[in-house]
Amino acid sequence: MQFSKWVSDLNWRLLVILFSSLFLLLLYFSNYGAAGVIEFSLRKPPYTAAEEIRKSELTKSRIAVCLVGGARRFELTGPSIIERVLKEFPNSDLFLNSPLDSKSFKLSLLKYAPRVNSVRIFKPTPIPETESQVRVLTAANSPNGIQGLLQYFSLVEGCLTLIDDYQREKGFTYDWIVRTRVDGYWSAPLSSGSFIPGKYVVPPGSSFSGLNDRLGVGDYNTSVVALSRLSLIPTLDKLNYSQLNSETAFKAQLISHNVSYQTPAQPFCIVTDRKYPFPPGHFDVPVAALSSPGPLSGAKCRPCNPACTGSCVADVMVGLSKGWSWTPWTNTSIELCNAHSEWEVGWEEMFDEAAGKKLAQFRKRVNTMNVKQCVKDFKQMKKKAAKWDTPPLEQICKLGLGPKQ
Ligand SMILES: *[C@@H]1O[C@H](CO)[C@@H](O)[C@H](O)[C@H]1NC(C)=O
Ligand SMILES: *[C@@H]1O[C@H](CO)[C@@H](O)[C@H](O)[C@H]1NC(C)=O
Ligand SMILES: *[C@@H]1O[C@H](CO)[C@@H](O)[C@H](O)[C@H]1NC(C)=O
Ligand SMILES: *[C@@H]1O[C@H](CO)[C@@H](O)[C@H](O)[C@H]1NC(C)=O
Repeated sequence: MQFSKWVSDLNWRLLVILFSSLFLLLLYFSNYGAAGVIEFSLRKPPYTAAEEIRKSELTKSRIAVCLVGGARRFELTGPSIIERVLKEFPNSDLFLNSPLDSKSFKLSLLKYAPRVNSVRIFKPTPIPETESQVRVLTAANSPNGIQGLLQYFSLVEGCLTLIDDYQREKGFTYDWIVRTRVDGYWSAPLSSGSFIPGKYVVPPGSSFSGLNDRLGVGDYNTSVVALSRLSLIPTLDKLNYSQLNSETAFKAQLISHNVSYQTPAQPFCIVTDRKYPFPPGHFDVPVAALSSPGPLSGAKCRPCNPACTGSCVADVMVGLSKGWSWTPWTNTSIELCNAHSEWEVGWEEMFDEAAGKKLAQFRKRVNTMNVKQCVKDFKQMKKKAAKWDTPPLEQICKLGLGPKQ
């Protein structure tokens, strides 16, 4: 019969379609093999309807992303910032404020940023210490004393200055400022839920008696209070604050200006070369494996073969001082490194596996970069920028890639 033949033909076609889609699906997942698993499970591109709406609202607003700090391991952190902060909000303008050193050449990776606005790479000079700064701040637990704090505060406030200069010239105000660090590794995208009108959003944990100051997201007005780290010291002095570290000063700034804050978890960690005791004691700093599922909310991390997982993590975290270096955790969110010595042999492969093929390519690119390539990349980046205030490109590139002195 014609009809039954037609039906069985149809079934056969359906089967072909079914199997080929299954095959494609399998192919898709195998692409995300061992290296991509973490990225895949964290990125969750199908946002909820509410998230989609919020994201599209934000995509129509004016966002400044302020990136501060030394380039250090930017071949590891930079690509994650480009992919998961800058490209996540492709309308955002990048403002970079970074001290010149032998690693600054790595910042040429920012030629891949969707929008580059202002770039400032400067030779650091000592900041004279004023009486009010000496009264308000403490050198305790700061690797370079009060001078170290002032350098950091000046770096952060310098980014606000770049933003203000541009705004004044163009006659507009950014709706949002995202303040983040050059040494932050993002394991998943910055969430649109972190943009809350009238509130300043900072990460939970790593609060050192104050507020975690490793990331901040706020509207323009709250950001001005949060980023004016040097110029608000005299105000804190008048209010009789003293013995402040970076985190307690940060909290005092917000409180004294009636800026309320929220602390949603954040999917980034601060990549550090520093060594820390292991296992960490009550006031020690835990160092997470960069491959931890997270969110790590700005805890310190490095690529490692975790020395401490499962119940070991619980033992360490319960022992940490809650108001100091403690960070929120679950028994699956964080794995710890033994960070008492140098990064271990084979860290490159560990990083590549955690970060996935795409990010690993950038690491390799920086690894094989020469002065010529570096200058070329910086030139491309400069073409995108509205403001460029750096030493000569050759000089930045030769400092890290030229013949050793
Ligand atoms: C921000 O501050 C300015 C001046 O202090 C004020 O006019 C404006 O209404 C504030 N904007 C918001 C959104 O609070
Ligand atoms: C700060 O301390 C001085 C001297 O002890 C005192 O006179 C002043 O009222 C204090 N100011 C505030 C804002 O508490
Ligand atoms: C903060 O709020 C208090 C109480 O409402 C008010 O007295 C003070 O002037 C406010 N401070 C600022 C800087 O807005
Ligand atoms: C983690 O916690 C859950 C629930 O609290 C528990 O069922 C599980 O066994 C724990 N896993 C590990 C590895 O400790």
